[in-house]
Amino acid sequence: MGQSNEQYGDRMFTHLTQGERARLDHLADAVSQYTYRDLAELGVPAGERLLDLGGGTGVVAQRLAEMRPGTEIVCVDRSVALMSEGTGYTPLEADVCDRTTWDRLGSFGLVHARNLLMHLRKRDFVFERMMEAVVPGGWLMVADMVDAPELRRSLRFRETFAQLRSYMEAELGTSMTCATTYAQRMHDAGMTDVGVSYDCLIVGPDKPGAAFMARTLRHLWPDIVSKGYAKPDGADEAIAYLEGGQHWDSAIAFVTAWGRKG
Ligand SMILES: C[S@@+](CC[C@H](N)C(=O)[O-])C[C@H]1O[C@@H](n2cnc3c(N)ncnc32)[C@H](O)[C@@H]1O
Repeated sequence: MGQSNEQYGDRMFTHLTQGERARLDHLADAVSQYTYRDLAELGVPAGERLLDLGGGTGVVAQRLAEMRPGTEIVCVDRSVALMSEGTGYTPLEADVCDRTTWDRLGSFGLVHARNLLMHLRKRDFVFERMMEAVVPGGWLMVADMVDAPELRRSLRFRETFAQLRSYMEAELGTSMTCATTYAQRMHDAGMTDVGVSYDCLIVGPDKPGAAFMARTLRHLWPDIVSKGYAKPDGADEAIAYLEGGQHWDSAIAFVTAWGRKG
């Protein structure tokens, strides 16, 4: 147990990990309805390039390509192994924590990142670069998960998730609270039309949020145990609860903030 310099994707959650594509697909299925609802409300200026950061499988970039055919859409990730060619966007393998990435990117009418900043040790640096990369009149949209233990009806699930959170905070530098600050930061930076939405990943029969949570627990648990955060069989009950399809519960909050550059 202790502090480390490991970053998301170095060892845990690499795109070459067996089952990572399915895990990210479940995540996208759980939250994309909220992302697309909020994106549809923004008046992104026509003719401007669009950027999705930490795009994973490219699901949001593909949606942007469908919404804005003919527009240049760049999808950045430290690994583009799970992205597809010919889907209307340009995959770019780059680290958003690296200043040279931003020198290459230029400016955009929309800068979007979902489930990325919470995992970055240099999230403040990246947030600043994201704001800079928006053209005047363009939009910034940033979304992440926020832990809210009281949302969980099951005390066993709460306990297991608390162990997962302790591990991710200490070992990967993840923050499960930073998304609550995004809207205020945009306001303080002088952005206009600032807004925020709070949604939730649902546990229930065939709910992708439950499948995503269960896969995340399965993937991390051996490392969580080996580093002393929990006991070997400590996640079994929570995984069965998530995968059993017999329980209705809430898993975690999903917060999206947006603002327009003046
Ligand atoms: C939890 S996934 C989210 C994927 C997608 N944005 C979504 O919400 O469906 C986080 C993604 O961020 C990428 N990522 C993590 N650290 C990164 C970095 N420093 N630079 C670029 N991408 C990074 C990961 O490779 C992964 O694809």
